[in-house]
Amino acid sequence: MDASVLWKLTYGMYAIGTLDGARPTGCIVNTVIQITNDHPVIAVSMNKNNFTYEAVKKTGRFTVSILSEHTTQNVIARLGFCSGRDTDKFAGEFFAWENMDGLPIIRENMAGYILAEVLAIHEMESYYIILARVRDAKAGVDYSPMTYKYYHEVIKGRAPKNAPTYQAEEKRDVWICSVCGYIYEGDLTKVPDDFKCPVCKQPKSSFIRR
Ligand SMILES: Cc1cc2nc3c(=O)[nH]c(=O)nc-3n(C[C@H](O)[C@H](O)[C@H](O)COP(=O)(O)O)c2cc1C
Repeated sequence: MDASVLWKLTYGMYAIGTLDGARPTGCIVNTVIQITNDHPVIAVSMNKNNFTYEAVKKTGRFTVSILSEHTTQNVIARLGFCSGRDTDKFAGEFFAWENMDGLPIIRENMAGYILAEVLAIHEMESYYIILARVRDAKAGVDYSPMTYKYYHEVIKGRAPKNAPTYQAEEKRDVWICSVCGYIYEGDLTKVPDDFKCPVCKQPKSSFIRR
């Protein structure tokens, strides 16, 4: 099998928002699709290790913020590379968000949002496939929605191992900020010691080689 063919499937970039008790939490996914059009249903693929899955399962509801090409990298770094298990992702000043019907949505140049209610969950090997009914949806800014291809090719973004479309990439020197998940590519040991994370301003010592 030539697994690289699967890269020709197209995807978007989305932020899932839900609650852990009263605390907002969520993560980045590229796997949201509409699968029926009468009383629309969407499907989302969630890694079993993702805290967001546990929170969605308990809450039974979640939002999908459709990221645009103008959504800042902070949103993806914070929601896509840290876990709600040990990080309060929506605390602090990393990105703008608001409450929508009790659930968090991203305000940072989002192209639109969906409010969804879980209908069924299908267990796969490493993933759960969540089927959810669309209860509300509203358009946001008029910018193009961000595609997964744009994220890879224009923003030069990467996906972590627990993204379903992850494929091993060639070895490169990658450092990750342990506080916010910002990714630095290159040899950080050669960068001056006063280097700070451009997103959360933590010192160079908070970076871990991946
Ligand atoms: C570009 C990108 C795409 C991703 N797609 C998915 C996805 O479709 N499903 C998934 O479960 N995780 C996906 N992830 C990974 C989660 O966002 C990531 O593991 C996150 O840290 C999980 O946080 P949590 O433990 O708070 O849920 C993606 C991440 C990135 C950066």
